[in-house]
Amino acid sequence: MKVFISRKIPEAGLQLLRKAGIVISEWTTKRDLTKAELIEHCRDADAFLSAGSNRMDQSFLEAVRHLKVISLHSVGYDHVDVAAATALKIPIGNTPGVLSDATADIAFLLMLATSRKAFYMHDTIRQGGWGFFEPTANLGIDIRGKTLGIFGLGKIGFALASRAHAAFGMNIIYHNRNLHGEAEKQLQARWVSFEQLLKNSDVLSVHSALTEETRGRFNKGVFARMKRSAIFINAARGAIHNEEDLTDALDKGIIWGAGLDVTNPEPMRSDHPLLSMPNVCVLPHIGSATEESRAAMSLIAAENVVAGLKGERLPFVVNPEVYA
Ligand code: 8YV
Repeated sequence: MKVFISRKIPEAGLQLLRKAGIVISEWTTKRDLTKAELIEHCRDADAFLSAGSNRMDQSFLEAVRHLKVISLHSVGYDHVDVAAATALKIPIGNTPGVLSDATADIAFLLMLATSRKAFYMHDTIRQGGWGFFEPTANLGIDIRGKTLGIFGLGKIGFALASRAHAAFGMNIIYHNRNLHGEAEKQLQARWVSFEQLLKNSDVLSVHSALTEETRGRFNKGVFARMKRSAIFINAARGAIHNEEDLTDALDKGIIWGAGLDVTNPEPMRSDHPLLSMPNVCVLPHIGSATEESRAAMSLIAAENVVAGLKGERLPFVVNPEVYA
């Protein structure tokens, strides 16, 4: 049995695959494969372990319908046409849970860094701008006791809310399809309508999946209904916000600041106006980038491959309907 892996992944996952006697074929060049190249590489493989965000649409999936499993090295699966995979009976695996803490840490870091203009201040020193002290200059805003609004309260949102509640006594409100009993009980979190979330959040942090419902959700009209003092955080998917509208809202003082671990598109161009704004902190999609999380993700992704190749149910399957 053979697996094609589209990017270098941590050794832990590779070892597990080798131990299971699976032959590994890896693409290690630092550029994205084209769809045609990807199909070619999958042609003589039995499984595809996809690290990165290669788009897997219906025509791609039809071309690789012989695969016994497609295992994603990510929790997100917005780059895959899951309905098409299900129709073709291809199980899709993902890596939930193991990256929640690391990703929540990045959202927390962005919240705090943005509130104190930390990245901009760091850049100022590098450019020789640490000059005369002025009591009224470089002021940020306090986080303690403020209201954190979570859009999409799942594992990552809950991990952020727990940190914010414990560290800063923040009040937690959230907007979600379902109520989150644990958050309500442990953190006194309150479900609110989308409008209430916009109106009451001092920090609004996005943790939902990218779906047709959430794509471009945070746009000009939405930013206009947020507090002028609000900080917008996105550590989920860049396409959930409209980047031009966000830039404009920050530029005009419609909202106060933004912390982004995800941009639209990625990578962000190095001369993007957001990168030189004092109240903005941007990171290059490193939410899950810790030794521990990436090793754990590679293990789960490998376990999904092993199970799929044995014809067993994947331990973490996105489309359980394939087993119906
Ligand atoms: C990674 C992620 O950047 O898991 C996800 O959905 O966005 C991140 O963990 C990446 O997709 C890892 O391959």
